[in-house]
Amino acid sequence: MKYGIWIAVLLVVFSCRQQGEQNESAMDKGFKLDMHTFGKLSDGQVVTQYIITNPEGMQMRLLDYGCLMTNLFVPDRNGKPVDVLMGFDSLADYVEKSPYFGAVIGRYGNRIANGKFELDGSTYSLPQNNGPNTLHGGIKGFDKVMWQASPVIDSNEYGVVFTYTSVDGEEGFPGNMNAHIRITLNAQNEVTLDYTAVTDKPTVVNLTQHNYYNLAGEGSCLDQELAIFADQFTPVDSTLIPLGQLAPVDKTPFDFRTAKPIGKDISTDDMQLKYGLGYDHNFVLNKAEAGILTLAAEAYAPKTGITMDVLTEEPGIQFYSGNFLDGSFNGKNGAPCIYRGAFCLETQHFPDSPNQPSFPSTRLNPGDVYQTRTVYRFGIK
Ligand code: GLA
Repeated sequence: MKYGIWIAVLLVVFSCRQQGEQNESAMDKGFKLDMHTFGKLSDGQVVTQYIITNPEGMQMRLLDYGCLMTNLFVPDRNGKPVDVLMGFDSLADYVEKSPYFGAVIGRYGNRIANGKFELDGSTYSLPQNNGPNTLHGGIKGFDKVMWQASPVIDSNEYGVVFTYTSVDGEEGFPGNMNAHIRITLNAQNEVTLDYTAVTDKPTVVNLTQHNYYNLAGEGSCLDQELAIFADQFTPVDSTLIPLGQLAPVDKTPFDFRTAKPIGKDISTDDMQLKYGLGYDHNFVLNKAEAGILTLAAEAYAPKTGITMDVLTEEPGIQFYSGNFLDGSFNGKNGAPCIYRGAFCLETQHFPDSPNQPSFPSTRLNPGDVYQTRTVYRFGIK
């Protein structure tokens, strides 16, 4: 009995120590990881924010709700930190009005035509949450669920691994799927996203991340320069579903092979730009070999000097120029989220691949591992 009490006391002390360690910060070689409560969901679940700082003074903040990246502070050419992400200050805003700000998107990033696809002779029906189509995984996609989080503390990178099990039939998709998203910041100012997923039934998967970037931290993004290393893009119909063929970007507003301001050709009289209300298209990345980490895009804000390189193993990148933002709601510090006030570069497989046999496959079989990496690297010019 006496021993029993002592064991109980030791267990309590041990678990308090662990708790204490969790609330404190970890620090090594100039890296720092802090965590604190960000808010509470209506069902009482507590949402934690993880704050990772690297030796260069760059800082990334992540939530276990939606695997969200809320802030990314990058030093500008004068060393002043600029938050390059559009987002909110409160959890309630992320829950109630977010157009996928900073979220991980799954199970299927981008659109699936008419909310339907066929796999091995069975037809699967998904919620149609974007006109006739399914967008970004359905009504309650990976951006709206709670993830298990555990900190990553390595010698050259700090971050968080997020885990989520999506059950068979969730948002209409077949198979129990375990997804792991590892998001880290290293000493070279690189944010690396490693996506992994496994399933127990044949299914489809296309994970991506939906940061809204403004490398000047405010104002319109139209003067920011962008290069996308793609000779082709996937033209779409009026509901933004690819027509099936790949079209050359040459002599079109979609030619970003040499860097140009995002706004340079955005108002050209072009049917594709009309359908997208601007850029909202998938670019077919020039790749020597499928699945190899390749430089996909480069962005630059003349105002701050901040540069961003995007490297990915994915075959495509959705470039979205913030066309649905209209200033009708406010973001961080009460500033309105203005029309084209940020842009997205979502690395992914092509939209509607489950219905497009000529596109690289998004099928995942039991026993196989979906594994893909994307890197956002920041610098100064
Ligand atoms: C993606 C889509 C856009 C839009 C945004 C979020 O980029 O392609 O059409 O849905 O997400 O608003």
